[in-house]
This record gives sequence, C-alpha cells and structure tokens, in this order.
Amino acid sequence: MSNILTEDLSSVLNGLTAEERNKLFGRTVFITGFAGSLGFMLMRFFAEHGEKLGVKRVYALDNYIFGKPDWVQPLESNPLFTICEGDVITQDFSFAENADLIFHMASLASPTYYRLHPIETMDADVVGLRRLLDFYQDKNTFNLLFYSTSEVYGDPAPAQVPPPESYWGNVNTSGPRACYDESKRYAETLCYNFHNQRNFPVTVLRPFNSFGPGLRTNDKRAPADFAMNVLNNEPIVLYSDGKATRTFCYASDTTLVSLKCALHAKYDIFNIGNDEEEMTITQLAEIYRSVGGELFGYVGDIVFKEHSDKHYNTDNPQRRCPDLSKIKSVLGYKPSVNTRTGVERYLRYLKG
Ligand SMILES: NC(=O)c1ccc[n+]([C@@H]2O[C@H](COP(=O)([O-])OP(=O)(O)OC[C@H]3O[C@@H](n4cnc5c(N)ncnc54)[C@H](O)[C@@H]3O)[C@@H](O)[C@H]2O)c1
Repeated sequence: MSNILTEDLSSVLNGLTAEERNKLFGRTVFITGFAGSLGFMLMRFFAEHGEKLGVKRVYALDNYIFGKPDWVQPLESNPLFTICEGDVITQDFSFAENADLIFHMASLASPTYYRLHPIETMDADVVGLRRLLDFYQDKNTFNLLFYSTSEVYGDPAPAQVPPPESYWGNVNTSGPRACYDESKRYAETLCYNFHNQRNFPVTVLRPFNSFGPGLRTNDKRAPADFAMNVLNNEPIVLYSDGKATRTFCYASDTTLVSLKCALHAKYDIFNIGNDEEEMTITQLAEIYRSVGGELFGYVGDIVFKEHSDKHYNTDNPQRRCPDLSKIKSVLGYKPSVNTRTGVERYLRYLKG
C-alpha cells in the first residue's frame, strides 16, 4: 500500500476518540456506493484497521456505474468484507440484514455525471434511501449516515456565506443541477420524518468539496482534472472564469469526520469540510501548478476554455464555504490538512 494512504489511514484512526473506537466494536457496517471517491478511503480504513477495532463485518454495495475500480479486487478476498455488485434501487438488502451501521453514499457526486444521469442520481438518493429506511426500520439499527451535500444551499446570497446548517438554501427546482440538489433536499426530509415519526436513528452529513486518494482521475471535478493536467504535463484547463470560490477538504479529514458523525448516532445535520481556506478555482489551479513544479518540475500554464457542455456552469454556486461551528462544538472536529498539503499528498499518491 502507498505510504500516503497508510499515513492517511493512521491519521483517521488517531483522530477517533477512545469512546468512538469503543462504539465501533462489534459493529456490522453496510456501505452503499462504496466504489466512489469517498467510499475508497472508508473501505480502506476498515480493511486496515477494522479488525483490530472489533468491526465484525463490512457489507458493501455498488452498481459500478463508472466501472469496477482495481482496488476492489483485493478486498473481495478479505474475510471482513462481503462485496456485492448491485443497485440500491433494486437490490434485496437481505444479504446485509444484520448491518447496524449504514453509510448511504450511493449517488453521483460529480456534476458532469449527474447531468448525464439525472434520473439515476435522483433514484439513488431518494428511492435508495427510502428502501434502506424501510428495510432497516424494524431491525437493530445503531445509525444510518446519509450523505447529503452542501449543494442543498444552492447559490446563497453573499450575506448567507458561510451557511450554517439552519440556512434554508436558494435552489433551482428545475435546472441542470436540480436532480442532485433537490433529491438531496427531499432525502433530508425523509430522514427528518423517519426520525420524528418512527424514531429511526439517522444523521445527515452535508459535505463540502472533498478530494484526495480515491477521487478518480476521470471524475471531472476540478481537483481531479487539475491533477491529470499536472501529471500529463499539459496546461491546467479551467472551464469557467475561475472566479467562483470553494473550499477543499482532504479525504482523510472527510473520512474521519464521517466516522465521527456516524458514531454520534443521534438525529442531527452537520456541515463537513474545511473552513479555513476559501479560494477561487484559479487559486486552486495555481496551487496545483506550484506543487506540481516542486514535485515534478511541472511548468504548465493555466488556460481558460469554453466547455463543450453548454450547461457546464449553469446554476454553478459563486461561493461555497462551510460554517463548521456546529461540528466543532458538538463533535470537537477540526480539519487538519490544508489545501496545499492535500494537493501535494494527492499528486504524490497518484504518481505512486
Ligand atoms: N466527494 C464530495 O466532495 C462530496 C460532496 C458532497 C456530497 N457528497 C456525497 O457523498 C457521497 C459519496 O460521494 P462520492 O464523491 O464518493 O461520489 P462518487 O460519485 O465518486 O461515487 C458514488 C458511487 O455510488 C455508486 N452508485 C451510484 N448510484 C448507485 C446505485 N443506484 N446503486 C449502487 N451504487 C450506486 C457509483 O457507482 C459510485 O461508485 C454521495 O452521496 C455524494 O452526493 C460528496
């Protein structure tokens, strides 16, 4: 295993409190959409540290809409795992009936792909979640962690940035991004009502942009595109004016905070991400260029192009930065990897 990944998985382990580790003991985990960018590090965490933490079993389901990643095969022969190819909207969950800690990640998080598959995206978020809630509601469920998104805030007015969890959002119901934003919003309402009406244990995560090992290089989100530009020694291409802002949370921080929220096991909604460095997409490209120069002697330009998809920038939020006050005070979480270090680690991981 790469040193970068080994170190990242250790930092996830070290970030868990003794109480959180104890809560993992004896758990049976079920991860939907495990083969995606966030699933990668969570699966690898359980492969590396699950047994010694006393995790009993990990069930994992994915329909491999992007193909089956190479890293899955070694896990198939690991006795801790039961890996199943299937769709969360049709799969019989009986194979994972005794799971008590469920991570519902199945969705399509990259705007390029959810615009290509809007109905599948909505189904995974809404129908998939509803089927899980129905299936597990009379079982011995410890918690279900639903991966919502910061996109539930849409394009907030400047005074609402950074948005706290209490902000209602400013979202278009019928634009090209609506399949993702609105299905996550409906899914959050499902979680709220299953908790209120049926006492179902569920926690809602609203991740802001995450990147790092696991993010596929053909994912079409900016951190992956820029990484490929640097590794291929070609110019870094921006398909916008580069002025929109984002924050970028490194994958080990995202994995750690997801576990903390899953083990919190109370109905709650949490923004997760990195609140320390809101930057323009151009500034992110500059970081890639500079880190690429230091690591590999990269000297490419940053260029601006029109994307062939005319909706590439439609309804694109202008600012995206989390208010993390709640998660800091409730779960004592603080991101530990800054963007430059994250870019360096991601590039070194990919090169290795
Ligand atoms: N990565 C981020 O920065 C980010 C930000 C906000 C929200 N999220 C949310 O976190 C979750 C994980 O994100 P990600 O980046 O790993 O997503 P991803 O797009 O990289 O991967 C999603 C995975 O889900 C699988 N999938 C999709 N539909 C499915 C279905 N019907 N049945 C079974 N599997 C299905 C895909 O094959 C893929 O492996 C998603 O719900 C996403 O909306 C992620």
